[in-house]
Amino acid sequence: MTSPALPAELTAALEAKLHGLSRSDAAERSARISETYRSGGGSAAIRGEADALAYALARMPATYAAVAASLNALCDIRPDFTPKALIDIGAGPGTATWAAAETFPSLADFTAIDANTALRTLALDLFNKSARFSHIHYQQGEARAALANAQPADLVVASYLLGEMGDTERVGLTDLMWAKTSGTLLVVEPGTPAGYARIIALRAQLIALGAHVAAPCPHDGECPLVAPDWCHFTQRLPRSRAHQQVKGAELPFEDEKFAYVALTRTAIARRPARVLAQPDVGKVEVTAKLCTPGGVVLAKIPRRAKADYARARRWRWGDAVMESEVASTNDPSS
Ligand SMILES: C[S@@+](CC[C@H](N)C(=O)[O-])C[C@H]1O[C@@H](n2cnc3c(N)ncnc32)[C@H](O)[C@@H]1O
Repeated sequence: MTSPALPAELTAALEAKLHGLSRSDAAERSARISETYRSGGGSAAIRGEADALAYALARMPATYAAVAASLNALCDIRPDFTPKALIDIGAGPGTATWAAAETFPSLADFTAIDANTALRTLALDLFNKSARFSHIHYQQGEARAALANAQPADLVVASYLLGEMGDTERVGLTDLMWAKTSGTLLVVEPGTPAGYARIIALRAQLIALGAHVAAPCPHDGECPLVAPDWCHFTQRLPRSRAHQQVKGAELPFEDEKFAYVALTRTAIARRPARVLAQPDVGKVEVTAKLCTPGGVVLAKIPRRAKADYARARRWRWGDAVMESEVASTNDPSS
């Protein structure tokens, strides 16, 4: 399992870059960039070295944790997956590349693509601190144009990218990402209804082209969730002191909500159910909302089913659980 915390050499490299710089300036820049994102703007607000560093300090830990959690879910379903080549589209400061390298020691060939010069420069500085990335190819350019020239890879990742694109651009990029995926495509978005909607649209588009869902869904059918419900997960991550200072935050941790889908070219043999919310552990029973191949169920695991109850007590939001573990009294949920 890949830890949600940034690798030590990445944390050290980020903090070293902050050395001698004003933390209050970094905090102001990060607040301005966050405000731009909240009001629907994109990464074009990140214009220079100081902006890129402020963005990375504030957001890289959380997007890293979301990608790591999604990759862990993928590995849970496909423990045999040992990709050699990665393409990280909309790589920004290199977040998903670090998470994928940490998850898959098999990765040896790294390609990153992004339009933003300042984020690319920062990413290359950070990659330089690790021998693992000594041959990384980081192409600066518009995602579709740059990807069109890339060799296919067995792992393709787009993390927190699609929200910055218009519909036509996103649909075109989705087809192209799939065309360049020889194994698995992972797409991660913020865990908002809008992020989920983008994931669900991409999922349908690619299932129509023959893709299979490895995670989080236990089926390739339509998502059974009905608005205002939406599929998303949460990952807790530690905040370093610099991270706290840049965000003006008191707590030494935060929870990142994210939505994701991992699509593969190989049909999935094992289709465990997915825990869709933090289960309620009561004295009489554990109640858990599960997505199963047959739809969403509210599973109630009574204490009298001792072994099942003991297992269900350990379920966490986002876990994959075998249907054989889902005991006794499953009520269809609305
Ligand atoms: C929110 S950042 C996410 C960065 C990184 N993937 C992460 O998870 O931390 C979105 C990135 O997508 C890039 N981007 C947005 N639209 C793009 C496009 N059309 N072509 C290339 N890069 C794009 C931005 O420059 C930015 O680096």
